[in-house]
Amino acid sequence: MPFGGDYNPEQWPEEVWSEDLDLMKRAGVNFVTVGVFSWARLQPALDRWEFGWLDRVLNLLHGAGIRVDLATATAATPPWLARAHPEMLPVDERGVRATFGSRQTWCPSSPVYREHSLALVEQMARRYGSHPALAMWHVSNELGCHNSRCYCPTSSAAFRTWLRHRYGGLAALNEAWGTTVWSQAYGDWDQIEAPATSSADRNPSQLLDFHRFSSDALLEQYRAERDVLRRWSPGVPVTTNLMVRSPFVDCFGWGPELDIVSNDHYLLGFLPDPSADLAYAADTTRGCARRQPWLLMEHSTSAVSWQPVNKAKEPGEMLRSSLTHVARGADGVAFFQWRASVVGPEKFHSAMLPHAGPDSDRFAEVCRLGRVVERLSELRGSTVDADVALLADWPSSWALDGPGKPSSLVRSGAAANAYHGALRSLGVTCDVVPPDADLGRYRLVLVPTLYLCDDATAEAIAGFASSGGHVLVTFFSGIVDVNDHVRLGGYPGGFRDLLGVTVEEFFPLDRGETVRLANGGTATLWSERCRAAEGTAVLDTYASGPVSGNAAITRRDTAWYVGTALEADDLRSLLVRVTAEAGVRPPVPLPLAPAGRSGPATFDITRRRSGEQTWLFVINRGESELSVDASGHDLVSDTTVVSPLRVAPGGCAVVRETPGR
Ligand code: GLA
Repeated sequence: MPFGGDYNPEQWPEEVWSEDLDLMKRAGVNFVTVGVFSWARLQPALDRWEFGWLDRVLNLLHGAGIRVDLATATAATPPWLARAHPEMLPVDERGVRATFGSRQTWCPSSPVYREHSLALVEQMARRYGSHPALAMWHVSNELGCHNSRCYCPTSSAAFRTWLRHRYGGLAALNEAWGTTVWSQAYGDWDQIEAPATSSADRNPSQLLDFHRFSSDALLEQYRAERDVLRRWSPGVPVTTNLMVRSPFVDCFGWGPELDIVSNDHYLLGFLPDPSADLAYAADTTRGCARRQPWLLMEHSTSAVSWQPVNKAKEPGEMLRSSLTHVARGADGVAFFQWRASVVGPEKFHSAMLPHAGPDSDRFAEVCRLGRVVERLSELRGSTVDADVALLADWPSSWALDGPGKPSSLVRSGAAANAYHGALRSLGVTCDVVPPDADLGRYRLVLVPTLYLCDDATAEAIAGFASSGGHVLVTFFSGIVDVNDHVRLGGYPGGFRDLLGVTVEEFFPLDRGETVRLANGGTATLWSERCRAAEGTAVLDTYASGPVSGNAAITRRDTAWYVGTALEADDLRSLLVRVTAEAGVRPPVPLPLAPAGRSGPATFDITRRRSGEQTWLFVINRGESELSVDASGHDLVSDTTVVSPLRVAPGGCAVVRETPGR
């Protein structure tokens, strides 16, 4: 099981390296990512290459038995390149060109950047392609994190090329973009620009295509680097570290391009429940990996350095976070970074080896984690049990977050987070999957605010329901087609027949405004004038507010519709009912929290499986002991467990379950 982190030895004199290796051994590190930001060290000038130091690093690591995820080093360019080609620097939507002096200061469509970066990749691949320490290649780093949307003339030209390919002719583009509105009909390709800031709301269909193009431009860079690597280093897996919680690129589309899907995740200290975001990220990464195991390429041992207030992790949180990723499909645990920097913007970012040195609580915690991860090796390759799919889609999110919606309070991801969180509080695991996922293996499919929905998706969901699967669709789903054009005849056009409802008009609610539901629940954010067709059961109606008396929650056979955002407890109660009807159960029977205020999930309970063998993960974030029915061997405490398994507050267990029990 890979355990380690980003290793940046170029920040340190060579005499430190041997101490690094000794301490890595002590911590159980067996995997490091090297060279992510080393371009200037490797190529200090156009015609000068310096690989000697990296040769020594790789040989040292090999000698210590540590496997290397070798970066292509293209994420940050050296100053000489930016100076020679200032046109390569990205331009933001206000037209301001970035200056050199941070990282990712390159336009994704720049031919100059492409040429020089591939020359570097070729050098790396030729030199290290069969190095015995090499475990995998790491293309660039978090592609798009800082430069995902560039509005320079080169990007505009590349956008036009992309559009020609997508539409063939201008007539099709004008139709797709609805350019009859506001006098935007294009008569020549050269009239089209990247949609930078304008005087009023920009064309939403154009914006949507620009998001698609921008994701593709970065994917092209990934593919170009990968193809060089494959040429010179065949058979070595290639990855790039995704950021599945970010809007930058369409990670579901990228997943199949990666030999090993890897993700970076950092707890967001300002959220009410940062672990809910972690669980969602892990379930999404598993969706990117099409249910196969994936690699946690980066998280932190403690605080980061880029949030408004960088909160340190409480003792035990490192283990809980790491195990939550593994519980949800990670086959490997890595951190940014091995040794804390003393210079640069990230010098106060935590690391495996903190500024305080090895004689520290944090390093001791890292060493303990290393021992646990070693014991987890036996579950590598196993998959995560999940009977529920939650559909998510980057293009739909881009479109939803574009201008001119009924309510700017309805943001992408919010409904998905709410449903995912409610399921998690019931102990139910769900895969977060793209709309083109194979739904056949699930009992329940959730469709939370899938604003944009193409015909194939609408058909697949309807087909799933007609073969007996349960589907739950929420408000403002299936509203527009692939070009962000409204589906006519009453909302939600994409799902109207499936759900047996017709919505005539939306009545969004203000921040803090609530509406009572007839069954005692509370609606927030959204209400609508909704009519149920014959044969559709109305399960709840609005009892106050502008659409009092209208249907709020309906059901037609196995298709459920929730036309508003329910408060957390109401949502949870609804999901208790829906999961029961769909035959979805948590991995182990759990005592349900008493009715009333249940709060966020206080545990993560999942099961991984390989053939007959299963492993039950129990991570207790609550304040009282958790007692569940499990017997076997706990890989965390390395002890035998006879049911009931008792997990203390803040504690974790990973039980290799006795088969057949
Ligand atoms: C990202 C980057 C790393 C580092 C960390 C800090 O994940 O990939 O290089 O900057 O953030 O949290």
